[in-house]
Amino acid sequence: MALLILGLAPRMRTLVVDLKSSGRWGLAALFLAMATACSPSEPQTPVQRGRIVYLNHCIVCHNINPNLAGAEGPAIAGSSRILLRDRVLHLTYPPGYKPKRVTHLMRAFPQLAGEIDDLAAYLQAAAKKSSSQSRNSASPPPG
Ligand code: HEC
Repeated sequence: MALLILGLAPRMRTLVVDLKSSGRWGLAALFLAMATACSPSEPQTPVQRGRIVYLNHCIVCHNINPNLAGAEGPAIAGSSRILLRDRVLHLTYPPGYKPKRVTHLMRAFPQLAGEIDDLAAYLQAAAKKSSSQSRNSASPPPG
């Protein structure tokens, strides 16, 4: 007789199988339990992950709404991936790029190298969301 106890709570499983008497069903149950336990929990989209990075690192200076200017930093919704990579990782700008401000208050975040794609996804989504509401063309101020 097979003794089979399966606990299939998301991150925890208890499995006791008496394979001696009923090997086939025991193994089938074992595979089932493994497949269930390994399913990913709550996948997050790049936009969701990028929003969390933005809230954690950027809103000290930039506005919580990236379409607006913040306490220190300009509006950065719609920033390209290249601009974000240069600016956030190296504190530089892409060749020929005209910065919106020149205060040099921002510092680099080299630890966010793996997060640039997510940040770009979030900032581009944020720009799209507001483009129906405001039509100003975010041109950089002189100087
Ligand atoms: C300490 C304040 C501060 C923090 C924190 C900060 N920034 Fe900035 N950021 C600025 C300032 C100020 C500028 C304007 C350039 C200047 O004056 O140096 C700027 C400029 C930028 C620009 C270029 C805007 C343009 O088009 O000219 C981007 C992109 C940017 N920041 C992204 C980010 C991101 C992403 C984060 C979070 C990972 C971040 N910043 C965190 C202050 C900050």
